[in-house]
Amino acid sequence: MNRAKRLDNLSAGVFNEMEERKRRVEARGLAVINIGVGSPDLPPAPHIMEALRRAVEKPRNYTYPLVGLRSLRLAVAERYQKRFNVDLDPGSEVLELMGSQDGLAHLAMAYIDPGDVALVPDPGYPIYEFGILLAGGEIYPVPLLPENSFLPDFDAIPAEVARRAKMLWLNYPNNPTAAIADSEFFERAVAFARRRDILVCHDVAYAELAYDGFKPVSFLETPGAKETGVEFFSLSKTYNMAGCRLGFAVGNAGVLAGLALIKSNIDYGVFYAVQEAGAAALSGPQDCVAETAATYQKRRDVLMDGLAALGWSMPKPRASMFVWAPLPPGYSDSAAFAAELLEKAGVIVIPGVAFGRRGEGYVRIALVKDEKVLSEVVRRVSENFRFK
Ligand SMILES: Cc1ncc(COP(=O)(O)O)c(C=O)c1O
Repeated sequence: MNRAKRLDNLSAGVFNEMEERKRRVEARGLAVINIGVGSPDLPPAPHIMEALRRAVEKPRNYTYPLVGLRSLRLAVAERYQKRFNVDLDPGSEVLELMGSQDGLAHLAMAYIDPGDVALVPDPGYPIYEFGILLAGGEIYPVPLLPENSFLPDFDAIPAEVARRAKMLWLNYPNNPTAAIADSEFFERAVAFARRRDILVCHDVAYAELAYDGFKPVSFLETPGAKETGVEFFSLSKTYNMAGCRLGFAVGNAGVLAGLALIKSNIDYGVFYAVQEAGAAALSGPQDCVAETAATYQKRRDVLMDGLAALGWSMPKPRASMFVWAPLPPGYSDSAAFAAELLEKAGVIVIPGVAFGRRGEGYVRIALVKDEKVLSEVVRRVSENFRFK
């Protein structure tokens, strides 16, 4: 049977190859340390797990969750008000998702027709591109370059492309580059999008993983943002609830209605018990959020100070759970370096090229192991590589 051609867009090449290599390394008896995939290793705070435990015991929570819990939407609106000073109408400007990925994947189905153009960051989190391609749209990769602090240069987008574009994907704090954006940047984005009638989709999954006192902003804080776009917020990293699958789209009510219509034909909502746990997370004490960020900051320092001492140094990220590491001296091919790191040191990182052509020259390291394991990574690198 012939598979649909759209599957050709979903290449798992790099990851399959790494998996194969990992098996060979493990067969040699070396325990592989995976700091490639960004899956949080920390547990949710006890009060969140307790809320989930209580919620699973309520028989009424086992119906189809066709309509989002009012208490959860209110909790989202209150959190946005407290954290970002942004007002949201819980009825029309908040939509619960099965993880923000659900919305990132499906929004294009509501806004992209075959042949429409979407502006997608390169390098970028892969689902932005896949969502567009699955909807039959065309991608215009917007370069995120180190000389522009990994922010898109709107003036460099050809007028003809900007005229045809219907969607612009943004993501700050950024995966994979760990770059951050300020209000001024979002003002430029809103001005560009309004001039061209483009829908802005901002993914703020790492809003709360920020270091050294830095506080990321919401796109919706920008005047005019709600008229021109939506933002995707996730509980996965903020509250270590990745497995619960809970996130939100917030912002433009018309856009959310389109996404809700697509979703109502695909799924029947998020398990009510998970929604109750989400409400507990958002409206409960927030010290757990600060503790999580402090944990990642310490990990960042252990790893990066260790690597710097070996001659592989780079600026420390101010947010996200990633280090976007330029290849060490003497290397220029990210897949080859990642393969060598796995072969020699038994450490998995993601080659930058897996995030787009302009990711070449970097590897992405996820801070998803504790300090002891990250020290072991430094030790293994020191034993197998010479950078100085
Ligand atoms: C930038 C970004 N957006 C969204 C997601 C997915 O988040 P969720 O678990 O809410 O679907 C991830 C997960 O790694 C991510 O890195």
